[in-house]
Amino acid sequence: MSSAPRVGDVKPDAIVERTVQTPCGELAVERPVRVADAATMVIFGATGDLAKRKLLPALYNLNGDRLLPEGFAVVALGRDAMTTDTYREKVSRDLQEFGTVTTERLKCEWLESRLSYLPSNFDDPAAYERLRETLAAPIAADGGRPPNYLFYLATPPLLFGPIVERLSAAGLLAEGRGWRRVIIEKPFGHDLDSARALNRRLAGLLTEHQIYRIDHYLGKETVQNIMAFRFANGIFEPIWNRRYIDHVQITVAETVGVEQRGSYYDRAGAMRDMVQNHLFQLLALTAMEPPISFEADAVRDERVKVLRAIQPLRLSDAALVRAQYDANAATNARAYRDEPEVAPDSRTETFVALRLLVDNWRWADVPFYLRTGKRLAARATEIVIHFKRAPLVLFRDTPVECLQPNQLVLRIQPNECIALRFEAKVPGPRVRLGTVKMDFDYADYFGAAPRTGYETLLYDAMTGDSTLFHRADIVEAGWAIVDPILRAWAETADRLHTYASGSWGPPAADALLAREGRAWQPPGM
Ligand code: BG6
Repeated sequence: MSSAPRVGDVKPDAIVERTVQTPCGELAVERPVRVADAATMVIFGATGDLAKRKLLPALYNLNGDRLLPEGFAVVALGRDAMTTDTYREKVSRDLQEFGTVTTERLKCEWLESRLSYLPSNFDDPAAYERLRETLAAPIAADGGRPPNYLFYLATPPLLFGPIVERLSAAGLLAEGRGWRRVIIEKPFGHDLDSARALNRRLAGLLTEHQIYRIDHYLGKETVQNIMAFRFANGIFEPIWNRRYIDHVQITVAETVGVEQRGSYYDRAGAMRDMVQNHLFQLLALTAMEPPISFEADAVRDERVKVLRAIQPLRLSDAALVRAQYDANAATNARAYRDEPEVAPDSRTETFVALRLLVDNWRWADVPFYLRTGKRLAARATEIVIHFKRAPLVLFRDTPVECLQPNQLVLRIQPNECIALRFEAKVPGPRVRLGTVKMDFDYADYFGAAPRTGYETLLYDAMTGDSTLFHRADIVEAGWAIVDPILRAWAETADRLHTYASGSWGPPAADALLAREGRAWQPPGM
């Protein structure tokens, strides 16, 4: 007969499980996060921006959190002629510059000692032969080599298909002794047809469970918290629908321009670069039905259903505004058309605002207003749920504009917080109302642990959890919504508004809401 569990009990076969007392006084088994599987991560494009700014700092942080196994290695592939030693020195410098925390020598050394560099031309089959030999060579003192391979394609999108084909031809994708997974960066396709073609090409070489299509917004803590907030709290779900919600606003505002990415951005534009992926995922998490479990496919089934329920977009200023940033003499900011590698007569949009309807029982007739842009007045990512106004009957003498509807703000960037705005009586003999705010700041409760957003995603890929990655159908559903618009923009001279760099976008974006008696909520309020 086994004895009853006591606080502090540790299961003999699991250094990771122990019995703890919950705040309600019950005994529960606590399962700390498991260490990632022993694996070699192969980074294509290892000398590029993404690797230095995000991937290596994320690996450094994962190691700091003790989530990487001893059997972990990185094979870095890039076009630059470098040796492993010079690459390690570069990483050491980059970690100091781009790491999210102050780097510690010992932890840097742990990571650097696991790096090897292979100068490679990704079109050359010989590069894959060398990679195969490197992956087969022992790295550990005991002659061991992690059996699993994680390939990260941090390359221009045109190379995604060819690299996977060459990996397959070199026999590097066949699972047997260990798993083989491929992380594909965005943009996944340029339109619906190209996304479908890439999906088909990958499906001929990999099974869906090996493909991890990344969207770094899903790696952000507060984005993941949307699900926890909605489904772990009994008080919000009953009012999360068309009976109580008037409309939803999603803003992803950036202060940066296109920087050095003009040649990519000028062919992409805000709709492809931000709306089709990041904004639609914020919308999907906000609007989805509760999944039957937190299994990857259960969650992804619900996300894709939201996208499929979106009504077709119309080309009209009442539903869709596109704009491009102009110069601002006051701040010396240049116009988009004067950016390096941007066509002087470019019609690419750097700002989009749109009104969407999610045509299902929960959301019928509730507008979702989305906006995103570069060179806006502030950096802010927010989802604001606007609840319906309370009946005015008791406050007849109060000016209507003073009786503000309740708002719930899910702030994702720059500071992660959740705030509820509601009305309260202003102290004094007269009945006057004022809006007050209750807020929860992540940093106050959980401490500020600056992250790149890639930690969770890399860790999930190394533990086989694809919940936060896109399935083929999710990517295609996103493209299916924007594709008709992108085609129409390419074929017609539909209106392109302009806005001053550093403003909140063109007046037409305000008119989109004003037409329906609403206004954008200024971020950060
Ligand atoms: C990327 C876009 O996916 O997201 C960039 O390509 C954009 O244009 C970036 O600047 C924004 O990400 P974040 O995490 O800074 O909000």
